[in-house]
Amino acid sequence: MPTLFDPINFGAIASPNRILMAPLTRGRATRAAVPTEIMGEYYAQRAAAGLIVSEATGISREGLGWPFAPGLWTDEQVEGWKPVVAAVHQAGGRIVAQLWHMGRLVHDSVSGMQPVSASATRALAKAHTFDGKQNLPEARAATAEDISRILGDYAAAARNAIAAGFDGVQIHGANGYLIDQFLRDSSNLRDDEYGGPIANRLRFLREVVEAVSSEVGIERTGIRLSPIGESQGVNDSDNAALFTAAAAALEQLGVPWIELRESGSQSTFRAADEPPVSPAMRRVYSGKIVLNSDYIRDNAQARLEEGVADAISFGRPFIANPDLVDRFCADAPLNQPDRATFYSDGPAGYTDYPALTEQEAA
Ligand SMILES: Cc1cc2nc3c(=O)[nH]c(=O)nc-3n(C[C@H](O)[C@H](O)[C@H](O)COP(=O)(O)O)c2cc1C
Repeated sequence: MPTLFDPINFGAIASPNRILMAPLTRGRATRAAVPTEIMGEYYAQRAAAGLIVSEATGISREGLGWPFAPGLWTDEQVEGWKPVVAAVHQAGGRIVAQLWHMGRLVHDSVSGMQPVSASATRALAKAHTFDGKQNLPEARAATAEDISRILGDYAAAARNAIAAGFDGVQIHGANGYLIDQFLRDSSNLRDDEYGGPIANRLRFLREVVEAVSSEVGIERTGIRLSPIGESQGVNDSDNAALFTAAAAALEQLGVPWIELRESGSQSTFRAADEPPVSPAMRRVYSGKIVLNSDYIRDNAQARLEEGVADAISFGRPFIANPDLVDRFCADAPLNQPDRATFYSDGPAGYTDYPALTEQEAA
């Protein structure tokens, strides 16, 4: 029976343990989406994670609406990432870039253009902008030209990630962003080959995987999905069938690992009310499955023993505990995260959470 401390491979990436750092937007880049020095310190502090998934990183101006989140579409952004990634490697860690197109959740005041989505719909959620939270405008439906350009943006960002030194990429297919907007039938109202039956709604996801993996290799390509009910305004009439088919498609494409944000009804981060789809996905997918949401040491170990999950990713516990792996090892108490500084500026609540003293870790 594997333990959290056993090694595992995610395609070409050899991970020394099964404790991953989940992707966490922290808003410490510049207004031009260029990573800053302090991000290197933050990620290096967490380098004992088996694998770090970076905060969501925009593939284009069109696709990035979160203020002060980083990007991977300009040379300056690539240069900004280099010392951040190098700091993680220097500290003995591994890091993949989470590639992000937010689709209809991008506010036009941030991108300077009308958002694009599977269909002309408007998300009811409020968008974070440089001027506080605002209502979102209606998105326009992507044309065939838009789709082909966006696939090119994914490919370029993946290439840039490798140029910046990342060990691979994770495609952000979760949480109601562009790929999820194509997957789910509440936001995908298309009647062309990208809409209608599940096989068609999976087309965009497949094409993104192909575009990205043709640049970096399928062995350096992972994906995150949220096979749950409603997520930031998208939902599906049959999430179980949709996400089981998605897992089968990822099996066919040879994607070596998938991370699932599978919150339950008691979740403290966007609770969901549908039964988990991961057991059905496990039956059709032979790669590594990483489960996420609301785990600490003991329930994570229990999940590994049930046989669905190969590894577990931790979000908020890693915000507050740079040395989470040591703390799990020593069964030491955890620092609690401070929500007020999740998206604030500077080191407070970012790089100043205390690690265990040597005595405590012993
Ligand atoms: C501050 C914050 C930022 C987040 N940013 C991202 C992100 O950039 N990409 C993503 O896929 N999920 C993001 N999430 C979701 C987390 O990866 C994770 O799914 C969630 O925190 C639940 O896991 P946990 O209980 O281990 O924290 C974020 C969550 C939080 C709290």
